[in-house]
Amino acid sequence: MAKQIVGISGSLSAVSKTHALIDRVASAVKRSTGAQTQVIALHPLAPFLATARSRDDMAPELKAVLRTVETADLLVVGSPVYKGSYTGLFKYFFDFVDPAALQGRAVALTATGGGDRHALMIEHQLRPLFGFFGAHTLPTGFYASDRDIVDGQIDNPVQRARLEQLVTEAISAILPLPVYAQAV
Ligand SMILES: Cc1cc2nc3c(=O)[nH]c(=O)nc-3n(C[C@H](O)[C@H](O)[C@H](O)COP(=O)(O)O)c2cc1C
Repeated sequence: MAKQIVGISGSLSAVSKTHALIDRVASAVKRSTGAQTQVIALHPLAPFLATARSRDDMAPELKAVLRTVETADLLVVGSPVYKGSYTGLFKYFFDFVDPAALQGRAVALTATGGGDRHALMIEHQLRPLFGFFGAHTLPTGFYASDRDIVDGQIDNPVQRARLEQLVTEAISAILPLPVYAQAV
């Protein structure tokens, strides 16, 4: 069965740099692995999240997305920086993810922000959140500021190289291990 890559965007905007970035990472991994991809925007789910108190009383649309995330082979998560952290929407969604479901799961971390000051949001906020879940966060996180994105493209060779590094790590994380490695 094809591996499943699931992107989750914590942006509140319908036209979102974060969503485009996640899409780019997921598509690049798909090209090299043949995996299936879907990138999910959380903002249409905001009304369901606002009224949810537990998994039992949740709208079916929201339950379905939670299950999709919990069973993905690779998660590509991303959020705009809001006040130095991920958005409340992003956290609200992950508050309902089963605490055991992401154990050992490969997670690529991305974020966008207005400037460079909050690039470490990935290390200080996102990585610890997925540490709580015991997920296997990929070593390279990718942060893009408004300056890095021109006409929807990453306009900076250093940044492009970093993005390629993240994609390489993501590909390795979901490709089957070679036979000799499985035998050890
Ligand atoms: C309420 C709010 C708070 C923000 N706080 C920050 C911030 O603390 N640091 C930062 O670099 N950018 C901040 N920004 C800018 C966004 O992170 C930035 O524009 C982001 O790329 C938007 O992503 P999106 O297009 O995916 O929604 C903030 C924007 C909003 C609307």
